Amino acid sequence: MNEIQIMPMNETHIHAIAEIEKQCFSEPWSEKALAEELSVPSAVFLTALMDGQVAGYMGVHHLGDCAYVCNVAVFPEYRRRSAASALMEAQIQKARACGMNEITLEVRTSNAAARALYEKFGFVLLGTRPNFYSSPKENAEIYSLYLTDL
Ligand SMILES: CC(C)(COP(=O)(O)OP(=O)(O)OC[C@H]1O[C@@H](n2cnc3c(N)ncnc32)[C@H](O)[C@@H]1OP(=O)(O)O)[C@@H](O)C(=O)NCCC(=O)NCCS
Repeated sequence: MNEIQIMPMNETHIHAIAEIEKQCFSEPWSEKALAEELSVPSAVFLTALMDGQVAGYMGVHHLGDCAYVCNVAVFPEYRRRSAASALMEAQIQKARACGMNEITLEVRTSNAAARALYEKFGFVLLGTRPNFYSSPKENAEIYSLYLTDL
């Protein structure tokens, strides 16, 4: 089992994270967009390192008492080795420490891996947003984790 290190995203991670975005999403975040998050007060972006290399990241915004997951992604070669789980655990801990009551997110209906990840952490399915995504057009499933229930 490889050791996973979770740390705040910094400038040195941006290039690799933009590469993860390109490999995972049809509308990837650019390096510029990721770098801008470093100065957004509500943004909590964490990087997962494995073997000292950037393996994945997870970006959350704390808005009022709700934490909103912008994105979570792991390089294909590092998947199924608990990087996303470690990121999620760290984000849940941070959200609780910051007084958030809920973590919420949207996910493509067809994204079985991500949905399984969220369900494993106890997120509950609240409903569907029709045609929320483009490229390709697809519904979003809305999930929430109520931190007050934990
Ligand atoms: C979803 C994603 C972030 C999971 O990352 P990961 O590091 O492989 O996840 P973990 O190893 O921590 O797996 C945690 C749990 O997620 C679920 N899971 C992860 N990948 C899965 C897959 N391919 N099929 C089914 N379940 C999966 C399992 O429940 C797993 O628990 P288990 O290992 O005990 O079975 C990764 O597949 C990814 O980057 N996908 C592309 C980007 C993406 O779709 N992001 C989500 C946008 S909403």
